[in-house]
Amino acid sequence: MTPLLALLLPLLFLPIISSQVPHWGPCPEPTVQPSFNLKKFMGRWFEIAKLPAQFEKGRCIETNFTLKADQTIRVVSSEILKAERRTIEGTGIVEDLKNPARLGISYSYVLPYSPYWIISTDYENSALVYSCTDILHLFHMDFAWILGRTRSLPAATVDKAREIFTSSNIDVSRMVSSRQQDCDKTL
Ligand SMILES: *[C@@H]1O[C@H](CO)[C@@H](O)[C@H](O)[C@H]1NC(C)=O
Repeated sequence: MTPLLALLLPLLFLPIISSQVPHWGPCPEPTVQPSFNLKKFMGRWFEIAKLPAQFEKGRCIETNFTLKADQTIRVVSSEILKAERRTIEGTGIVEDLKNPARLGISYSYVLPYSPYWIISTDYENSALVYSCTDILHLFHMDFAWILGRTRSLPAATVDKAREIFTSSNIDVSRMVSSRQQDCDKTL
């Protein structure tokens, strides 16, 4: 086995483990929300749909963003899994003030910031978020989310969101709706 292949093989199996789809080539470079207003983006967002599909995961996923005094963002995400609401806390930052819609989020001090790009948002109803990581410049792994200020969004809003992703060369054909039913119960 060539050294390169030995290096690549474990990476090729990653998608099976994490249910992610690798795409050949580097990350797309989508345009992001112009004049992004971080303050208006803060607050509670519900996950409406996501990529990749993770059917076995929790439901009623939501994230609460709060701007801290030091201008970093407190990120509290939660889900109901096995009849229990589980919460994780992370930190968000604007990595480059010239690109305020390109956030980075890390859920652990030992992990680097993952891209969390706000592709588009009206702040009051919906937001489109994209995260992509290049692997060896050969392929990339990505995540995409449609977020809502409410637990459900009109079908037309979701369709429009998918169109925006697609026109940015982001493949959302495998995007699935997130479960946001019976969230007041933990059953
Ligand atoms: C979001 O976080 C802020 C600050 O910690 C808190 O005051 C607020 O109640 C939280 N909102 C929700 C819906 O959890």
